[in-house]
Amino acid sequence: MTRYVLSVEDSAVFEPWREMARAALQRDLPPQAIDWRIRGGEMDLFGQQTNDSDGMVALTEAPVLKSVTLRASCIALLRDMLCHSDPGRFALAYRIAWRVQGNPHLLDVATDADIAKARIMVRQNRQDCHKMMAFVRFREQPVQGEGAGRRRFLAWFEPQHHILERIAPFFSKRFTDMDWIILTPRGSICWDGKDLAYSSEPCEQPELDDGFGDLWNTYYASTFNPARVRTKAMRREMPGRYWKNLPETRLIPQLVSGAEARVRTMAEQELLPAPTFHDRLRARDSLPVEPLPDTLEALAAKVRTCTACPLHCEATQAVVGEGPAHARIMVVGEQPGDQEDLAGRPFVGPAGQLLHEALGAAGVDRSALYLTNAVKHFRFRLQGRRRIHQTPDAGHMVACRPWLEQEIALIRPKLIVSLGATALRALDGPGMAMADVRGTSWRVGSGETAVQRLALAHPSWLLRLGDGAQGDSERQRFAEGLSRVREFLHQPGS
Ligand code: URA
Repeated sequence: MTRYVLSVEDSAVFEPWREMARAALQRDLPPQAIDWRIRGGEMDLFGQQTNDSDGMVALTEAPVLKSVTLRASCIALLRDMLCHSDPGRFALAYRIAWRVQGNPHLLDVATDADIAKARIMVRQNRQDCHKMMAFVRFREQPVQGEGAGRRRFLAWFEPQHHILERIAPFFSKRFTDMDWIILTPRGSICWDGKDLAYSSEPCEQPELDDGFGDLWNTYYASTFNPARVRTKAMRREMPGRYWKNLPETRLIPQLVSGAEARVRTMAEQELLPAPTFHDRLRARDSLPVEPLPDTLEALAAKVRTCTACPLHCEATQAVVGEGPAHARIMVVGEQPGDQEDLAGRPFVGPAGQLLHEALGAAGVDRSALYLTNAVKHFRFRLQGRRRIHQTPDAGHMVACRPWLEQEIALIRPKLIVSLGATALRALDGPGMAMADVRGTSWRVGSGETAVQRLALAHPSWLLRLGDGAQGDSERQRFAEGLSRVREFLHQPGS
């Protein structure tokens, strides 16, 4: 059998091998017919240096016998394993590519020696990437002249395998706003804020000192918890071969040996009792309470900066109430929906549309009403790219209650219409069940401060009910409620 010698650069991770492997498979050459060599690698030490182009030229002179395709899953496996540093990787990859031609399910055979070995190599490459993500330590370099203004960092790392190209995007995404170079004995990667450059040229370890070594060690020592020392787990996570390039490892022996004594001292120290719940409440109540704004505009400005509950983190903006400053009727909904959150106005989405149409049908002028919500930020969960409404909980309602109370105090409406259970609860507390009061009206307080209350269903609920019998009767009840709103609006004296 004619034998071919194919040699590949040690740093070549996939493409050059793929070209040669494709040519060999098309010529139906079994694995025994190919001697895979590493150019510039260990094998040359034994005097077996070959001229790569000779091997490839000899091979391409043989006739092509068939066309070859490899499944994406096979290519992915070979690509993932070929960045390993094992000198036998190119021969193993070719053996798998050859064997998979006759057995398309080879990759599923976990007990097959070639597949098992390939998978171990993939795992080791991943571990190497993981360690590189954790243990690269950048040192800032002085920048002069052109480029001053951007910070520049240098790091030295010794990966076990040829993972640089694979890991580079992680660093460019993580450290986008600084320029950096990572030097390794297997090449280097460089980021200038726009492009990632990769070189397979081996690097020498540079002298690295940015003057912050002591600061870093102080930080590391202060985060070291002596009560949690697990030396075995620590060695597993931070294997010895990485220690020499990690500045903090010089502290570890001394921190570990002093840990027991530190824990004892901590245990002996007098325990200070935490303030009781009652004391904490008293302390909070004695804080001066800032008065709430006394105009609607100032109140709206304050609401827009509210951070009293976590909803402000995800929502686009707080949605404040809108309508005449002295409206006789206030309508309170639950919370802004997706469209209200984007537009910054209440009731502009599908529920608002239904409300708008129902008000029109009942003969109520929307612009005469003050429309607001019990909670001013949109609560949602993400499903893919969609924001799915979530009912606010009691904590969100409590955080927002001062805003609603101040809106009522400033507008002094004579009728407050709640839409749905959240508004009912925000206005009247948890004691009333929506099913008992839906469509009913009652009076709160007496004399000058008396307010009429009307509880109606939420328009989103009516939308969800759809066209069935319940939908029809609830829409009817909603329309009757709005007729009462019209009567109230047109009562003499309004
Ligand atoms: N639903 C509400 O309760 N309020 C809005 O502003 C929009 C939808």
